Amino acid sequence: MKAIIPAAGLGTRFLPATKCSPKELLPVLGKPVMQYVVEEALEPAGVDEVVIVNSHEKPQIERYFERDEALEAYLEAHGKTREAEAIRAAGELPVSYVYQDEALGLGHAVLCASEKMDGDPFFVLLGDYFVPERQMNVRMAEVSAAHGGASVIAVAPVPADQVSRYGIIAGECIGSVDGTPVGEEEPGAVWHVTGLVEKPPVETAPSHLFIVGRYLLSPRIMELLETQEPGAGGEIQLTDAMQRLLAEEEMYALVVDRAEGCDTGTPAGWAATNARMALADDSVRAAFLEELGDVTLG
Ligand code: G1P
Repeated sequence: MKAIIPAAGLGTRFLPATKCSPKELLPVLGKPVMQYVVEEALEPAGVDEVVIVNSHEKPQIERYFERDEALEAYLEAHGKTREAEAIRAAGELPVSYVYQDEALGLGHAVLCASEKMDGDPFFVLLGDYFVPERQMNVRMAEVSAAHGGASVIAVAPVPADQVSRYGIIAGECIGSVDGTPVGEEEPGAVWHVTGLVEKPPVETAPSHLFIVGRYLLSPRIMELLETQEPGAGGEIQLTDAMQRLLAEEEMYALVVDRAEGCDTGTPAGWAATNARMALADDSVRAAFLEELGDVTLG
């Protein structure tokens, strides 16, 4: 089974930093954002390859995930074993590439990876967000298994003033992932999805549960994407093809705590993610706090 990570975007929210360096390679502590997402993608049992939807403008991503035996040997020879192991590990991750050279939308990006999916279900992970504990997709796979292999998406409550920025679901709560009682919009709640709409005005939105960017999808979605017309923003939307999928197949949503993951989609989110990861890392925390000095919050 494979996972798709769309990565062909221009990174306009991070200009000028992304003029020459892909936003996917921005570091969080010492590691590029993309590597966190790739490692998360490989966590559920059965996922053995990550297909990155790249553009030809960003060869640096591919270089990063290649082995560099000369550099490894140099580092080893200079006693930098830990660093040598780190770059070897990045070079051994099972990634492959397809290309999207026109920004036609998320649905189009996913469709670009169609031939690599072998007609199997697959995950999609949006790369502006990563889950350090890597368990979100694992729980989604459990929900799917409990419902005959149906498609499952992760959703979370969003404040009313942000509803129109996201994909929003309609449906009803049918219980929880492990049978324990939870509120309808609390983490662990499972919804039967009856509708999906991309970037609706808040007045007509069917709920305040938004798609956070983790999907486990039926292979049928690829066939639907082939005929998907552009939607919100003039883009071919994955959400619109999923809405059409509902006419044929069941779909479920798992409510997650959005704070389980880290946002890297904007400079502010990325900076906060670095702070959060530094505070969570025993080998970095003390030095980070010392460098930060006497910052007054509020
Ligand atoms: C995309 C999806 C949207 C989802 C969002 C999560 O939108 O189309 O359904 O809620 O990611 O970040 P974008 O952020 O590309 O506009």
